[in-house]
Amino acid sequence: MLGENGLEVPLKNGETAYFNYYWLRDNCPASFDPETRERVFDIFAEESRPQAVSATVSNGYLEVTWAGAGHVTHMPLETLSNYAEGRKRADPANLVRKPWYADHYPAVGRFAHADLVADKANVKSWVETMLTDGVALITGLPDTDAALLETASLIGHVRPSYFGLVFEVKTHIKPTNLAFTSKALELHTDLPSEDFAPGVQFLHCRANSVEGGDSLFVDGLAVAEDFRKLYPEDFDLLVSTDVPYYCEHDTFDMRARQRVIELDEYGNISGVTISQHQADIFDLPQRELDRFYPAFCRFGRMMQEEKYLMRFRLNAGECIVFDNHRIVHGRAAYSATSGDRHLRGCYTDRGEMRSTYRILSGEGRFK
Ligand SMILES: [Fe+2]
Repeated sequence: MLGENGLEVPLKNGETAYFNYYWLRDNCPASFDPETRERVFDIFAEESRPQAVSATVSNGYLEVTWAGAGHVTHMPLETLSNYAEGRKRADPANLVRKPWYADHYPAVGRFAHADLVADKANVKSWVETMLTDGVALITGLPDTDAALLETASLIGHVRPSYFGLVFEVKTHIKPTNLAFTSKALELHTDLPSEDFAPGVQFLHCRANSVEGGDSLFVDGLAVAEDFRKLYPEDFDLLVSTDVPYYCEHDTFDMRARQRVIELDEYGNISGVTISQHQADIFDLPQRELDRFYPAFCRFGRMMQEEKYLMRFRLNAGECIVFDNHRIVHGRAAYSATSGDRHLRGCYTDRGEMRSTYRILSGEGRFK
């Protein structure tokens, strides 16, 4: 049972599985501090490679005595079973994403602000909708500055952008972004010029009495999945080419590179990043652009097809929340003199949202 680099352990059903000595020693339950729950064992400090001198299985545990100082590891067989086949650790937040199309508006998950504040179970349902659909509507938000930050903090820390902690989408006198004008805003994801573009976007509608200004939302995932089937070679270009983005004004000069289509660790499509108003002058080799530009334009045009375009009017008191790496959004032009239009926005991160979901699911290694 003891080998040179590892050992064979009998698990359930009479099968045996191989485990590497470094892995067994590094992940000994005694390696983790019960208070911080972090690993406190330092495998780099070991003078020689871990070597078992004896190993037995009894009462659901593997017991290994190690050479050297004679440390003993008691490892539950259940833990070993989870890692026997080298499969990725199960993640409750890894829900199947459901693509949606132009007719999605009546089915958009709606959650009343008061219900979210009152009961965490409602927050869990909301995050579940965010993970599967990428978009949800919060209703009944108070018309206060605090309401937006209070709502966002239910799923993660509010994270600033180079516009600050919050941003106000209304007609600005000296605009630094197309959103801050009354012009039409092409379909885009926000701030790809940031190294780590914001993950989740909140837009609290405080007033919307203007003519025009309808919201346009597209599930980039739905478009990218169809694109993958129709144009596999173009798809490969869009998942592998770094596109430069910028946002430059008097006091900032943001630059970053992003890929148009994002894949997750399983190879599934998890998002898109696109913004013509922040796309920098492409500095790719001109010959590569012979292939890239047609693919890029084909995707951009497909994204604008009616079958994908969810068009609706955001009403005062509503807050639309969406995955900024998946949902592409835009706005029809409006008449600035026909009334008031004011959205107050902020961002949180996707990783924190998934963390919130795992906590509310009650699943984890330390439960
Ligand atoms: Fe935007």
